[in-house]
Amino acid sequence: MSPEKPTDDLLNIEHPATGKKWELPVEDGCLRAVQLRQIPLGQTDLGLMSYDPSLLNTASCRSAITFIDGDAGILDYRGYSIEDLAESVSYPEVCYLILKGELPNRKELAAFQAELAEEAVLPAYLLELFASFPDEMHPMTMLASGLAALGAKYPESEKVLDEENRNKQIIRLLAKTPALAALAWRRTQSDSPVGPDPEKGFIVSFLRMLLGKPGEDFEVEESFARAMDALLTLHADHEQNCSTNAVRVVASSHVNPYSAVAAGCFALHGPLHGGANQAVLEMLEEIGTVEAIPAFLEACKCGDRRLMGFGHRVYKNYDPRAKVISGLVDSVLDAGQPDPRLEIARALEAAAREDDYFVSRKLFPNVDFYSGILYSAMGFPASMFTVFFAVGRMVGWLAHWDEMLRDSEQKIARPRQIYTGHSRREVPPMDKR
Ligand code: CMC
Repeated sequence: MSPEKPTDDLLNIEHPATGKKWELPVEDGCLRAVQLRQIPLGQTDLGLMSYDPSLLNTASCRSAITFIDGDAGILDYRGYSIEDLAESVSYPEVCYLILKGELPNRKELAAFQAELAEEAVLPAYLLELFASFPDEMHPMTMLASGLAALGAKYPESEKVLDEENRNKQIIRLLAKTPALAALAWRRTQSDSPVGPDPEKGFIVSFLRMLLGKPGEDFEVEESFARAMDALLTLHADHEQNCSTNAVRVVASSHVNPYSAVAAGCFALHGPLHGGANQAVLEMLEEIGTVEAIPAFLEACKCGDRRLMGFGHRVYKNYDPRAKVISGLVDSVLDAGQPDPRLEIARALEAAAREDDYFVSRKLFPNVDFYSGILYSAMGFPASMFTVFFAVGRMVGWLAHWDEMLRDSEQKIARPRQIYTGHSRREVPPMDKR
């Protein structure tokens, strides 16, 4: 289904006290908030403003990257459905598509992969930096710190308005983020780093850095490589989510992209954004048996608990990413250890989808419902789930960064506020306070 173009129109506003009228243009289904400024409210004010805490009803940009129809459960990158991309296109091809707008042909893909391969190795000072991190540091904090520190090596990355320079930094960040993520994982395990092997392809090289042994050949389960490829594709972009908005806002000051994506990592780390898959696993462990499901659902329905991994601000239908992940779980579990939590998850989904509370509120599984089980089956603990999310999302952040800097309408992000504090007053001397 294609996005329907909203019609342009005029909005008529009349001030009831003065009878004064304004005609405000509606373009692409939106009213430009600055148009409200022409409607005065008093002698000294700047004009009418819009108030939209958490930006629930504000489009902050035009974007040609990702389309979501939450009611229909549709997610497309550059016009291709997420299901088709996850099924038949590799993650590097998806990266090319997201960045350049079209899928690569063989020659373009080979050139793109060669560029990534050339940039796959980390500068040596980062190994020393990671070795100096305390044992208890979260791998997501390591990744964000590593990204910011990586920027120090490339002072030319400050030239954010230079397109050629931007492309160079995009390749560098895409190529080196898996190495930073793997370094973070190995630091948490006190394991020595293993370098990339880009000849084997982006995904196998990433898995080698994560799971390989120094100096030994690396073989990986086909189903693991396939699952990691699909998971990175599913996480590659999700339009103006919290972390992408954070990247855009930070980058709007024209800081270098390493600092902007480090900010994106910190935004993604929060439990309301990238951290929910960990909560799903904890919930499944707590439920413990299929017999305990009805009582848990009752607790959700009376507001004592939340069914984690269900519900979404945008999707009021099955999250298409959850469908793909649900399909991948069986193949990965067949190749690895069986997981008793999967039986509980499947029974929980079936029970919730027959229950009027969840049906009437359009609460369906979201991307996090099965992704934790999948990562867990590949041998990773919950602390790494958001790190993998960030590796996949890096291309989305970079595509939005580039798109924003090409957009002549974009300026430094700087919202207004409604001031609720004191009016001007005099500073009292110390003995009068
Ligand atoms: N379990 C039980 N009830 C729920 C749930 C849930 N998971 N989600 C929503 N509801 C109820 C909610 O209580 C409300 O009921 P009522 O109308 O009686 O007050 C109704 O459904 C509407 O919910 P809402 O809180 O207004 O919806 P929201 O759009 O503000 O919240 C959400 C979306 C994702 C925060 C929420 O569904 C939730 O907390 N889900 C569980 C956490 C989770 O899985 N988060 C991952 C989101 S996807 C990852 C990402 O994209 O970053």
